[in-house]
This record gives sequence, C-alpha cells and structure tokens, in this order.
Amino acid sequence: MKENRAINLEVIVKRLLVKDVISDEYIGKEILVCGWVKTKRVSKDIVFLIINDGSTQDTLQLIIFSNNSVFHNLDHCNTGASIMAKGILKESPGKGQKFEMEVSEIVVFGDADPEKYPLQKKGHTLEFLREIGHLRSRTNTFSAIFRLRNVVSMAIHEFFQERGFIWVHTPIITSNDCEGAGEMFTVTSLDLSILSMNQDSTIDFSQDFFGRQAFLTVSGQLEAEFLAMSFGKVYTFGPAFRAENSNTSRHLSEFWMVEPEMAFADLRDDIKLAEDFLRFLCKVIIEKGEKELLFLENKYKRIVIEELGRISETNFTHISYAEAIKELEKSKEVFEFPIKWGMDLQSEHERYLTEKIAKGPVIITDFPKEIKAFYMRLNDDEKTVAAMDVLVPRVGEIIGGSQREERLNVLEKRMIEMGISTESLQWYLDLRRFGTAPHAGFGMGLERFLQYITGMINIRDVIPCPRAPKNIGF
Ligand code: 4AD
Ligand code: MG
Repeated sequence: MKENRAINLEVIVKRLLVKDVISDEYIGKEILVCGWVKTKRVSKDIVFLIINDGSTQDTLQLIIFSNNSVFHNLDHCNTGASIMAKGILKESPGKGQKFEMEVSEIVVFGDADPEKYPLQKKGHTLEFLREIGHLRSRTNTFSAIFRLRNVVSMAIHEFFQERGFIWVHTPIITSNDCEGAGEMFTVTSLDLSILSMNQDSTIDFSQDFFGRQAFLTVSGQLEAEFLAMSFGKVYTFGPAFRAENSNTSRHLSEFWMVEPEMAFADLRDDIKLAEDFLRFLCKVIIEKGEKELLFLENKYKRIVIEELGRISETNFTHISYAEAIKELEKSKEVFEFPIKWGMDLQSEHERYLTEKIAKGPVIITDFPKEIKAFYMRLNDDEKTVAAMDVLVPRVGEIIGGSQREERLNVLEKRMIEMGISTESLQWYLDLRRFGTAPHAGFGMGLERFLQYITGMINIRDVIPCPRAPKNIGF
C-alpha cells in the first residue's frame, strides 16, 4: 500500500523542506522530501525530476539511475504528480543547480495525466492561467506574487504595531454605506422566490434576518472611527466589497483594504503617515521579497526594483487638486475625458500626473466636495474638502484618505445635502456629540499596491480568487 510505504519512509528519515535542504549542511546525508513534480526528463540511464514543495520559489532536482528498481516504476510520475522521495543529497555536477538528490526510494501520492494536466513547460499567458485559477499558484509567476502578498501583509502589521496602532476588526456585514456610492451587495436570508413587497413596490426587509436591509461592507472606516475615538490609533485590515460594475484592470468586487484611523490628527499627519507607510513597505519588500521581485522583473520587464528603492528614501510630490487640473490643462496630451475643475480624475489623468509630471508618486489634496464622500472635512473655502489621494505610476490611485468632519452641525448639513440618512447614522453623529476631536485616516487597497510592486497589469493577477462582474469561478 502506498500510504504504508510513505509512513515507513518517514519513520526512518524526518522530512525536510526544500528551502532547508538547499544548504551545504545536508551534503552526503540521507534526506526525505515531498513535493510536486515540475518537470520530468528521461534519458536512457537517468530520470531527472524537478520538484517544488511550496516552501520556497526554488526547486530541487532528483535523479534516479537505471540500476535502481524505482527507475522502472516512474510511468505515472509526471509533471503535476505529488511525491515523497528519500535519498542522498549531493553537489550537482550539472548547470542550473548547486545540489541534487540521488533517490533511493520514491512514493507517488497522486499522479497527473500528462495528456490532461494544463500546466505545460512551454509557459502560458496570464489570461489562460486565470482560467485555471486553482492551479496557477503552482507556476513561478504566481508563486512569486502570492509570496510577496504574504510579505506585504505581514509588513503592514509590523508598521502599525511598531507605531502603537491597535488592530481592530470591523464588521463584514453592515447596515451603512460608508462611501455613499450605493455600490453594495445585499446580504439576505429572504427566500428570493417569494419576496414580500411594500406598498411602494420596494422589498420588505423588515422580514429579513436583521429586520432591515444589510450589506457587505465597502469599508471599515466608520467603525474604525469610533474605535479611534477610544484607542487613539487603530487600523483595520480585511476584505471590502464593491458591487461596482467596473470591468477594469484596477477594480475587484472583493479586495483587501488596510485602513488606519488616528484621533488628534489632521490632513498633514495623515499624509505623513501614508508616506512613511509606503516607504516602509517598499523597504521591507526589497529586504524580504528580493528573490521574487527579481524573478518578476526579469520575466515581465515592468517593475524596477531600483524604483521601489528610490521610493523608500524620497519625499513624494504634493499638489492640490486645483494645481493638478492646471497641469492637465497645460498638457499637450490628448485625453479621452476633457479637463474641467470639478471633474473626477480618470485613470489617464492619474497616469499623466505620476508618469509625466512627477515621475513618481504624487499626493493630491483638497478635492471638490461634490466628488468626495460625506465624512471628509469641509475646507474654509467651503468648496473643497481635506482629502488626499496617493497616486503611483502605472496604477494610479492606491490610497484614498482624509481628515474627517468632526463638527456636528457641518457634518449634519453635508449629510442632508448629499441625501444620506442621518437617522441610521446617529451613532456616527454621537462621536461628534460626545468628545469630538480632529481625526484622520486613509485606506490602501492591498491589490492596487501589489499591482504596483509586482508590475502586474491586471489586478486579477495579484489575488488568488479574483471577484469581478460575471466572474466568480474559483
Ligand atoms: O478611495 P476609497 O474608496 O476610500 C475608502 O474606502 C475610505 N473609506 C478609506 C479611508 O479613508 N479609510 O478606497 C480606498 C482604496 C483605494 O485608494 C484603492 O486603493 C482601493 O481602496 N480600492 C479598490 N481596490 C480594488 N478594487 C476596487 N474596486 C477598489 N476600490 C477601492
Ligand atoms: Mg478613492
């Protein structure tokens, strides 16, 4: 039986991970490894198997000589198969690897039909790999990207924890629309085939699970605000959902967002935090993800590690929305969307400002109040709000934030102006009634940031299971 043999093998020698095997320490010693076969090459007297076990981007070469009885039993050990093998680690005489393992025994846990296994050595397009989302993480590209995702996620925690921010868990199911854009997924336990309607033909959500309409959150900010009003400095880091019908290379319906919120802070503090944060992330990624970055840089020629290095040391360009509009008006570029004060900046404008004007990250502040959310603090001109967006080359906006409106009467007036129900957000207004204070925060989309550092053109290639309109395959 395969299982018994596997257990027997492990009793004799403890399993090592490929990341640990690749060191001089094990030369000449008997070791045991597990993994998936990436390639198999057969010659008259030798079979070469390259395996990867997920512990590292690196692979280990296994060699099986024809004088070993195992040699004749490798018919179903092909690319994609999972195996366990025992043998002696040696220095490799071949090119491309320092070590190799001379196999004495091997167990195939699961074979993979070479006619049907979709990942072939020739390489595949990113579009094709999106269709086999459950297998693409076995490729070098996605292995590198998802490892970097892990590095960035841990660095996010490190940054905020080191600075005394408390990680708070804001809800995924909510009754509020933080961004006020109406782009929310409804969460319901109603039987959709027998919906009861109100007299005005709207759905009667009083019969629903929560007794009112509930949604998947678009942002944890409003709850983070009340937690910041107790802890001073907090951050959320979790999924956000947007039912925006945007089939673009920068939008996901489910993405991860990190949202710090600070009491006793204004827009300047917020901008400083965002800059420090991005500089820190770039520095840590180069330190901890250099191997993966180099792989992606060599393969796709889009990211420049040197550029990330520069960001980790420089100040960002700061301009106001009004100045940005002037720059765009001056430009000789032909934009699809004409430039006018009051317009929302489109991707083409963001790219022009970062790539042509600043040649690096840009922070735009003080946007017209009409194009920003209700919670942003109204400036003295009463036309603009204390908002800031951080834009980077190739991707555009990666951070959106603001100082929050802490004055009860101004906030109430804004909400009414914008048609936002003050009734259901009484708890939010209470924060302005009981010990209000200046406060500020921002949100960074994890996937937008990953797009920037990995050079991936499509945001669907930096998250294991991308969700987008008409797209929920894996
Ligand atoms: O600018 P947004 O909508 O701001 C907020 O949600 C605020 N509540 C944040 C805050 O101040 N606490 O979103 C923040 C960031 C964007 O800059 C972008 O990076 C990302 O979230 N983002 C998306 N990422 C992927 N797909 C989408 N559909 C995204 N929408 C926003
Ligand atoms: Mg935004």
